[in-house]
Amino acid sequence: MTIAALSKKIRDYYAHNGRSLPWRNKPTPYEVVVSEMMLQQTQVTRVAHKFNPFLKKFPNFAALAKAPTIEVLREWQGLGYNRRGLNLQRLAKIVTEKYGGKLPKTYEELAELPGIGPNTAGSILAFAFNIPRAFIETNIRSVYIHFFFPETERAFGRKACKKISDDQLTPFIKKSLDLKNPREWYYALMDYGSNLKRTLPNPSRRSVHHIRQQKFEGSNRQLRSYILRFVMEKPSGRSVAEIGRKFSGTAAGSRYNTKQIDKNIADLTKEGFLMKDKISRKISIR
Ligand code: ADE
Repeated sequence: MTIAALSKKIRDYYAHNGRSLPWRNKPTPYEVVVSEMMLQQTQVTRVAHKFNPFLKKFPNFAALAKAPTIEVLREWQGLGYNRRGLNLQRLAKIVTEKYGGKLPKTYEELAELPGIGPNTAGSILAFAFNIPRAFIETNIRSVYIHFFFPETERAFGRKACKKISDDQLTPFIKKSLDLKNPREWYYALMDYGSNLKRTLPNPSRRSVHHIRQQKFEGSNRQLRSYILRFVMEKPSGRSVAEIGRKFSGTAAGSRYNTKQIDKNIADLTKEGFLMKDKISRKISIR
């Protein structure tokens, strides 16, 4: 596959099958940041339901920065990985205080913000400012593995294949990057990759960086979200013992032990979700 052929294939596909998504309609930089953070680990269909209600409640960086954290976490419910919601609010505070409410336009400044890694910084540059920079996310990874590393699949079979790293894909991504209109190019790549996954065994499974989602049911992640929700339901706070009783082995349907519950309360406190009142010893949302 040549770069020119790839480019034509992706553009032809996009011209007929491009997705119309709520965060692609002339988004403001704020809207791009919100959507990219939501899309980091959550499927497009799920984000599509949460994006507009979130914007209605917090229409800009300033509104998000000054909202009570409990409100942000409420709006984040259903997206999973609440840490992203917390980071998004931290980011909004920095943008408001340090950058006067305007999202910075350089890769270095973006990559320093909470919750923004190298790839999200690249996606924000493209989608918010139409500035070209090579980055990879799961759909893009699928496209380049599919077209430029097809032999690994044939040679090794799906189980025992040699894994491909992002460093191997980056030269191809750089060579094919549209310097004039990176925004459209990346929309097109993502749509093509998303369709590939629907029609083929997911090519990203052959990536070193591919992580299979672990089962949520019965996981520690589930317990974390249970605890957080239980505390959120009572703004005046709950005691550690009350949380323990709710989710420990004796509680109906649960499989968690006290040690695990206490560890999660401690972790959630350290990470800035929860706080403990010095006098009442009650746990509440920070
Ligand atoms: N459109 C813009 N950003 C996207 C993303 N991260 N995933 C899917 N579609 C998008």
